[in-house]
Order: sequence, then C-alpha cells, then structure tokens
Amino acid sequence: MSKTLFITGTDTGIGKTVITGCIAAALLRNGKKVAVYKPIQCGNLLKGNVSSPDLKLVKDLSGIDDKNLFNDYGFKLAASPHLASEQENKKVDINLIKNCLELLQKEYDFVLIEGAGGLMVPITREYTVLDLIHELAVPVLVVARASLGTINHSSMTLKLIKSRNIDVNGIIINYFKGGLIEEDNKRIIHTLNDIPILGVVPFSEKINDLADNFEKYADMDKIF
Ligand SMILES: Nc1ncnc2c1ncn2[C@@H]1O[C@H](COP(=O)(O)OP(=O)(O)OP(=O)(O)O)[C@@H](O)[C@H]1O
Ligand SMILES: [Mg+2]
Repeated sequence: MSKTLFITGTDTGIGKTVITGCIAAALLRNGKKVAVYKPIQCGNLLKGNVSSPDLKLVKDLSGIDDKNLFNDYGFKLAASPHLASEQENKKVDINLIKNCLELLQKEYDFVLIEGAGGLMVPITREYTVLDLIHELAVPVLVVARASLGTINHSSMTLKLIKSRNIDVNGIIINYFKGGLIEEDNKRIIHTLNDIPILGVVPFSEKINDLADNFEKYADMDKIF
C-alpha cells in the first residue's frame, strides 16, 4: 500500500521543501521507492531537467533521481498560484492533479506532496490549498517555525485542518534554536492543539546535514 503525505506549513518560506527533502532522504536510505510531487510552482523557475526550484532543493538534499520528481505547473511570477496562473492566462486543472496523484500512488511506496505557501493560499480565485488537500483526501504534516508568533500560526493552521476533518499526522517545528520561549512554544503547541510533535529540526547553516541526520531530529516511524 502506497503512503501519501501532504506537507503544508504555517507560512511560505517555513521549511516545507527542506523537510520534504529530509523525509525523502530518510526514506531513500531505507530503500523505499519515493516520489516527490510539487503540483504547482510559482517563481524562480530553473533551466535544465528540473525546472521547479523546490524539487531541485529536494534533489540536492536527498539525491533522489530526477525521474521521481513531478511538477505539473510552473508559473513565472513568484506569487500566489491564482495570480501567477492568471498572468499567463492559464487555470490550474484540479482533476489533472488528482489523476497524477492516483498514478503516483500506484507506482510508489511513498508520495510526498508539497503545496504552495500555507492552507488559505488560493490556487484559483475559488479554490484554496486547503480545498485541494480535502479533495485529495490525504493526511497532512504541518511545518511550523519555532520562534515567537508560532503559537498563533500553528494553532490556526491546525484548527483549519481539523475543521475539514482532514487527518493530521503531526507537526514538525523547524528553525529551532532553543531557549525559554522556543522550548515552551513546542510544549504549548502540543497541549493546546492535542497534536503530536513529530520532530524538532534545528536551525542549521548546512541544511544538507539536516537531511543526512534527519532521524535524529524527527520520528520517521510516526510521520506516516
Ligand atoms: N532548519 C533550517 N535551518 C536553516 N535554514 C533553513 C532551515 N529550514 C529551511 N531553511 C532555509 O529557509 C529557506 C526556505 O525554506 P523552504 O524553501 O524549505 O521553505 P518553503 O516553506 O518550502 O517555502 P515556499 O513556500 O517558498 O515553498 C530555504 O532557503 C532554506 O535553505
Ligand atoms: Mg517550498
């Protein structure tokens, strides 16, 4: 049975791609067949085999082969997908994403999906990332920052997920530096939201080290 995980975050730039790369690296070390799927990429498109910068980062962190990286839409503007797609007179076809995921689930042990930004980001003017997760009916992993402000952002994100009866496997706290506030943030997010903290990932100048040692920072057995 294939396992799928939708990696979302409390914000853009929160570390969704880094954590996805770390999870892919850990799964590949265990000989699993892994696909990483970024349906929609907006901005900073690259030349070469992998045009999505997020998928390129996943590749750099995990060593995953290009053929296991999937992206349907690449828009030039670094903006919310609804606007970036409109600028190119295109509209994202949700059925195309659903069909792509179904094919991946047939072929791979693990499918890691990264959305765009946070849950309330519009994919079209009528349809958000939250709607997509709900429609795909896949479990979610939330990536949150450790620092001041995270209690509010994390709790709102979790409430939204629960409001749609979406399964949430847990939360990973990223950019952790420790200290009174961050240690307490970790505890209060857990108790306030009744949510497992599946990992605490330190801030690191060398993000490749995070991927190489991810099992030290996160409980891979509970992530899925
Ligand atoms: N634990 C960490 N330590 C140091 N740098 C980090 C860490 N996590 C992420 N970063 C850096 O922060 C930046 C943003 O991370 P990332 O691209 O994973 O965010 P994202 O949530 O996927 O963003 P987007 O919404 O654009 O997809 C990257 O440049 C990455 O190198
Ligand atoms: Mg990303």
